[in-house]
Amino acid sequence: MKKQNNKTEQAIQGHSAAKNEKDTYEKIPREEKEQITGAEIQKHWETRAQRRGVQAVMSARHRLQENRQATKQLQEDIFSFLGPLLTGKRIFELGVGIGRMTKEIAKRAQSVVGNDISASMLKKARRRLQGYKNVDLRLGKIYEMDFPEKSFDLVFDSIVLLHILSPVELEKTVQAMQNLSNTIFLVEHTYEGENYPISKYSILRRQEEYHQLFLPYELIKQKTHLCVGDTFTFFLFKAP
Ligand SMILES: C[S@@+](CC[C@H](N)C(=O)[O-])C[C@H]1O[C@@H](n2cnc3c(N)ncnc32)[C@H](O)[C@@H]1O
Repeated sequence: MKKQNNKTEQAIQGHSAAKNEKDTYEKIPREEKEQITGAEIQKHWETRAQRRGVQAVMSARHRLQENRQATKQLQEDIFSFLGPLLTGKRIFELGVGIGRMTKEIAKRAQSVVGNDISASMLKKARRRLQGYKNVDLRLGKIYEMDFPEKSFDLVFDSIVLLHILSPVELEKTVQAMQNLSNTIFLVEHTYEGENYPISKYSILRRQEEYHQLFLPYELIKQKTHLCVGDTFTFFLFKAP
């Protein structure tokens, strides 16, 4: 861990972390993050899946108890923002992690198909979702999956795109999301300034960057949500 201020360093050591998780908060420029290999990213998520509870999918700068409380508030705010858009619908969820959002979607939707690149995350998600017959979880990238065009009513993403570091990979993912549905919901941790203590495996993009990325889809609704002090943005996009 380099150039980290002491307070942040102590918090991370105190609140995370999986065994062998050493360099997550190493500070490197965006251009270097964009070059991190797929194999290293994959390994990071397999390691990180070993963290306790919601720590696996949230920042280790915050305590487990804070992140649990923040998860509840985030879920409430997301599902109120989406209103009836999930009810009885076919949903694709990008990067399900431990399935904390998947379960809430499954309670409302007709069906949820979800993916993740980490087998360990999916194992935890499957355990959490036992008994939910309308959920189908798959290992792999969204653009490698073979679904008919527009076969979902909505594609749901919760803090996954910020972890897709390569611009080429990001573009392929967005294209695949648009192929699957005319309606796309994102919640992403967005830009906080240059020196924010963020994971090496995250890029905090500006809201405008997401608007551009999703063109020609139109932004229908947007909202800021503070998650333990971090700036999360909700975006709802629709095909023109
Ligand atoms: C911060 S967690 C969020 C998990 C979940 N969406 C949530 O909000 O609880 C990010 C998840 O994205 C997964 N992930 C990273 N890159 C991915 C990709 N290219 N495609 C699908 N999943 C990915 C990770 O394995 C991890 O489970």
